[in-house]
Amino acid sequence: MIRISVIIAASLLFITCRPAISATHDDVDRKVEELLSKMTLEEKLGQMNQLSPWGDPSEIASAIRKGHVGSILNVVDPEMLNAVQKIAMEESRLKIPVIVGRDVIHGFKTIYPIPLGQAASFNPELVEEGARVAAIEAASVGVHWTFAPMIDIARDPRWGRIAESLGEDTYLTSVLGAAMVKGFQGSDLSDPSSIAACPKHFVGYGAGEGGRDYASTFIPERTLRNVYLPPFEEAVKVGAATFMTSFNDNDGVPSTGNKFILEQVLRKEWNFDGFVVSDWASVTEMIAHGFAKDPKEAAEKAIKAGVDMEMVSGSYMSSGKQLLEEGKITMGMIDDAVRNILRIKFRLGLFENPYVDTSAPPVLYAPAHLESAKEAAIQSAILLKNEGEVLPLNANTIKTIAVVGPMADAAHDQLGTWIFDGDKNYTRTPLATLKEQYGNDIRILYAAGTEFSRDARTDGIAAAVNVARQADVVLAFVGEEAILSGEAHSLANLNLQGAQSDLIAAVATTGKPVVTVVMAGRPLTIGRDVEVSNAVLYNFHPGTMGGPAIVDLLFGKAVPSGKLPVTFPKEVGQIPVYYSHNSTGRPYQGSETMLNDIPQEAGQTSLGNTSFYLDAGFAPLYPFGYGLSYTTFEYANLRLFSSSLKANDVLTVSVDIANTGKYDGVEVAQLYVQDCFGSVTRPVKELKRFERVPLKAGEKKTVTFTLPISELAFYNIDMIKTVEAGDFNLWVGTNSQAGLMTSFMVE
Ligand code: GLC
Repeated sequence: MIRISVIIAASLLFITCRPAISATHDDVDRKVEELLSKMTLEEKLGQMNQLSPWGDPSEIASAIRKGHVGSILNVVDPEMLNAVQKIAMEESRLKIPVIVGRDVIHGFKTIYPIPLGQAASFNPELVEEGARVAAIEAASVGVHWTFAPMIDIARDPRWGRIAESLGEDTYLTSVLGAAMVKGFQGSDLSDPSSIAACPKHFVGYGAGEGGRDYASTFIPERTLRNVYLPPFEEAVKVGAATFMTSFNDNDGVPSTGNKFILEQVLRKEWNFDGFVVSDWASVTEMIAHGFAKDPKEAAEKAIKAGVDMEMVSGSYMSSGKQLLEEGKITMGMIDDAVRNILRIKFRLGLFENPYVDTSAPPVLYAPAHLESAKEAAIQSAILLKNEGEVLPLNANTIKTIAVVGPMADAAHDQLGTWIFDGDKNYTRTPLATLKEQYGNDIRILYAAGTEFSRDARTDGIAAAVNVARQADVVLAFVGEEAILSGEAHSLANLNLQGAQSDLIAAVATTGKPVVTVVMAGRPLTIGRDVEVSNAVLYNFHPGTMGGPAIVDLLFGKAVPSGKLPVTFPKEVGQIPVYYSHNSTGRPYQGSETMLNDIPQEAGQTSLGNTSFYLDAGFAPLYPFGYGLSYTTFEYANLRLFSSSLKANDVLTVSVDIANTGKYDGVEVAQLYVQDCFGSVTRPVKELKRFERVPLKAGEKKTVTFTLPISELAFYNIDMIKTVEAGDFNLWVGTNSQAGLMTSFMVE
């Protein structure tokens, strides 16, 4: 995409271009073997040890000097990193550079929308650009390795880490996860602006019971292979350098001790040749799991499973020698782990370029980066409702705007979760942007109503109602503080926190048009808030440039194009609710008798009943792929170029899409396929293609998709990945519940 090259060019001017190292994989493997042959057991175990920097600096220095440290994490001061590296490169025996890790999840200093928000853009090029910018900024301070992308399939909005995910869909997550890997790693891993990616959390972490973080999962192998593993396989295909294990135990086996996923799948089936790191203390957490009786057994199980590097829990260093002496592990296992680690260090060029160039001018918050983050925030916003076309606002006719809500000027919370290095002082909030851009021509009245998202006090609402009464339109900025999503922050109730719903309802009583703008880390059960709002614009925490992005959208300088990467439940009780569910033997028919329509003393019968809720029905609040525009789009003339195909054919599908409204816009056309029957039951539909289609008002385009039939393969009753002959349905449309339908056969 042109923008990426412009971004990189603009930023790399700042980074002194030290030569990338053009080493072939054979060169690297030769160097690895040569180095490995010189290493002592302690030095080998040292490479497998990642240290947190929170200890005594002299002890850390001593450990590095002895070759007991292969990696450190969570240090981002260039001078400190050079000092650490100097010890490794000049005072240790074999001068093996330390690899520096950091969670750079959705930006380093320039913060992009949280990954769930970026997923709403359905724009791989934009997502890759965001990762590229994050890499450029993080590498400029000495970070070599990010613990991202997080590509766990997430179908439970109670789980706080859904914020970090790319949503519920396997195909969307596969495409965007691969884009992030490419963005982080660039075209050459040894380039000074490249950082190693780390697809995580391997695997199934998003399926924790009850949406509780760290909870057990029970994903059978077929579902693992058809739903949860494909994004990770795509990440390997695009060259991901490292992997991270997940905290959960799946069907009784913690991922950090799971030989099936780490050896059979990752190494033997996918030929992954990078290294695997445990997640935080997940090695010794296998004791709490009840899977190991002590750190020694935990180390044994992790090493045997294929975890090359232990993050912070230190059991490899403390028990490795004893495990070897007791014959519990072999030197071959240790050598394989060290080979994987050294291979990535060589590919990163760390031996030739171990230090940060502190003379290079800063690239942090470069104007091109901020512009890119704004565009990402624009494309990540989802228009859920726009009754009476209250949006876009007309700056020529509006005289007064009332701004209310705790998220209007929330510089910290707008950045979202997993922000270690973002600085709220750089955040551009909606309120500040409104004042800056429109304050001279429009009266901007502000009364927060409630001070922060959890604020349950209602005494501030009267002031908000008062400014609403004076305004032509009310902008209510609500949502979640950043800390309410992310790791360890699962929720059992997904309504707007505190008195936010009371606030929206109160300002709505003035009869003024209410535009509710949500900034949250997850889907929320906002049905009641939507009812009393004239328009709703949903943003998954939009990052540094959220203000300018949202204000451009509100005034029509940009037109919403985002689509939901995750289903919105009406009620928490519907969870898990996602579009690619199986049919069941009694699929919802749409004519079920709802709770209050059941006559009193009705006779017990199951006839006519299907899989739905008496009190909430079947449909979610909003389906996967849903999102409105200021304009309207019409699909017509869906056609296949063949309706009977063989397994090695390519299906070609065309559809005409017209912009039938009065604004230029972008439609995300989505292609879904249903395998109507198989040796096992199959989802009612699965996303297989999508495309952002820019259309000027009145313009019509023919959009053509090509889909190799081989991509319809799934793991069948015999656990063999194959395309089964039979009937297929296909839809192309604007979301997972709407679209033109046709059918085809595979012979
Ligand atoms: C955390 C997270 C993981 C992160 C790691 C290092 O607990 O689970 O995603 O990369 O520890 O911060």
